[in-house]
Amino acid sequence: MISLKNISKTFHTKDKEVKALDNINLEVAEGDIFGVIGYSGAGKSTLIRIINLLERPDSGTVTVNGIDLLGIDDRQLREVRSHIGMIFQQFNLMNSIDVYKNIAAPLKNRKLHPKEINQKVEELLSLVGLSDKKHAYPTQLSGGQKQRVAIARALSSDPRILLCDEATSALDPNTTQSILRLLKEIHDKLGITIVIITHQMEVVKSICNRVAVMENGKIVEQGDIVDVFTNPQSGIGREFVSQAIGSESVEKYFGKFRGAIYKLSFFGEVTHEPVLSYIATEYKITVNILFGNIETLHDTVVGSLLVELLGADENIAAALDYYKSLNTKVEVIKNAQQPYSERH
Ligand SMILES: Nc1ncnc2c1ncn2[C@@H]1O[C@H](COP(=O)(O)OP(=O)(O)O)[C@@H](O)[C@H]1O
Ligand SMILES: [Mg+2]
Repeated sequence: MISLKNISKTFHTKDKEVKALDNINLEVAEGDIFGVIGYSGAGKSTLIRIINLLERPDSGTVTVNGIDLLGIDDRQLREVRSHIGMIFQQFNLMNSIDVYKNIAAPLKNRKLHPKEINQKVEELLSLVGLSDKKHAYPTQLSGGQKQRVAIARALSSDPRILLCDEATSALDPNTTQSILRLLKEIHDKLGITIVIITHQMEVVKSICNRVAVMENGKIVEQGDIVDVFTNPQSGIGREFVSQAIGSESVEKYFGKFRGAIYKLSFFGEVTHEPVLSYIATEYKITVNILFGNIETLHDTVVGSLLVELLGADENIAAALDYYKSLNTKVEVIKNAQQPYSERH
């Protein structure tokens, strides 16, 4: 549905050049909720603005719904853009008009009968849960309510794609979750493809089915959310995953442990099995659980455990082999301080 090929973009300012995008390749399929995660300055906003050509790339191709956007004229581009909605961190509402008029604004150019406009706006108000606020002004609303108005406005032109640039970054955690639930509901009800730019793995984890990780203008890894979550390939990908599962805070104490520390990542069926207690008895090792997290990502149960394993080296190796045979991933986080033979 959205295909970016070999996209590069450099900004030239008075004193320097910034390569904001460096040979980006990205495929978003119809029906995806696609997350792009990266720290500030990674190039995320530039990337999302390339999708509707608010920013023009220096090189590469942008294809949306089979149309090569760099090969069409302004009138055709306006038509394509009318099917792409966008929301932002700062909401970008017009403060001098009420909620109703903000949502109706994009409908003005469509030569609709006032009755049709009214019906459409009422439907959207109900969809975003703000029917009782239609005559309020943006300054009278909370952040979450403002974002709901922005979402309704973005949907008024019946887009097939919704682009979200840090849409929840100005909101508290509860409001963030309620906006994410709304986006998921819109995706399921209206079948809209969503692209979400964020610096929070929490956001990606909550609703995305696919994710790309960005650093210094490059996509360093991308894939299915469960794959990236259980087996991140890049350093920065691992960092985001640790943040999201909450293991970061315990990782700094690992120096204190004598035994080797492993990260065990698993998903699906195996999460129902008492695997750790099995390997402890079967291979005569002691398992010290330092951190555990199990959750559901897109109907798949995903688990992650940080464990210290104590016992004879060959027993630990055999236990880990058994563990790997269950299609789970084992990562060495820290080696034992001394070989087992010298410890005993
Ligand atoms: N219009 C611009 N002019 C000059 N530099 C820009 C412009 N837009 C973005 N940049 C630079 O490009 C890099 C990527 O920016 P951006 O895409 O906004 O990153 P992100 O959204 O991930 O924070 C940053 O170094 C930023 O300063
Ligand atoms: Mg940005």
